[in-house]
Amino acid sequence: AIIILFGPPGAGKGTHAPAIVGALGTPQLSTGDMLRAAVAEGSEIGKKADAVMKTGGLVSDEIVVGIIRERIAREDCKMGFLLDGFPRTIAQAKQLDAMLAEGDEAVSLVIALRVPDEILEARITGRWCHAASGRSYHVETKRPKSLPEGAAPTADNMLDDETGEPLMQRKDDTKEALASRLRSYNEMTMPLLDHYASKVSSVDANKPMDQITPQIYAAIAPFL
Ligand code: AP5
Ligand code: ZN
Repeated sequence: AIIILFGPPGAGKGTHAPAIVGALGTPQLSTGDMLRAAVAEGSEIGKKADAVMKTGGLVSDEIVVGIIRERIAREDCKMGFLLDGFPRTIAQAKQLDAMLAEGDEAVSLVIALRVPDEILEARITGRWCHAASGRSYHVETKRPKSLPEGAAPTADNMLDDETGEPLMQRKDDTKEALASRLRSYNEMTMPLLDHYASKVSSVDANKPMDQITPQIYAAIAPFL
């Protein structure tokens, strides 16, 4: 199945993606993670993306569509894939639909994580990430095992559960950049819910995590 995981910054896309791809056995394609990898590499695309991402704007459709086109052509996407953070504009959605139509495919499902804007700041400013895997933690709601009860987070006690490697905070996880990311989301990305209206399954993601997972499993059940 070809599934889009949709929602504002901090909605929980990266948090819930592993369970979905675990159930479906298809890869997770996060354009945010791919762009951050390009930035870390210092490639031409990375240099262009870095300047835009820092301020919370959207990287050009041309760049992200190019990245996705190349990625979905690979063998491991033959049985489907989960898109996290793509498409983000109507132009991206139309190009995705056209790419899929070439192989007689189409988007199967859009899982829309619903969270009110005012909840997102605490999620974003408390987040720490494991850059290599894209796994994310939170200083209050999803503490890594390395952070002792009652201790304040520091670079030394914030370590990835699986690898023990240091966690980091994203450059765009500031209050200012979040305001701009939310503006981009509300203006450019929200209209995709109309574009894919017949495929959208809404999930109330303003809940503790264990109350979100069952809603997600219900949405993907027809595709297992
Ligand atoms: P991207 O990396 O996609 O960022 P985003 O969309 O802003 O989303 P986030 O990764 O911030 O949020 P998330 O939903 O994954 O939240 P998470 O699960 O981590 O994109 C970054 C940038 O790249 C963009 O701004 C843009 O510049 C560029 N870009 C990417 N794709 C692009 C595209 N297609 N076109 C153009 N530009 C593009 O959760 C957040 C925190 O909350 C975590 O700490 C988590 O532990 C916690 N949490 C999660 N769920 C809960 C819960 N239920 N209760 C309590 N805490 C929770
Ligand atoms: Zn994410």
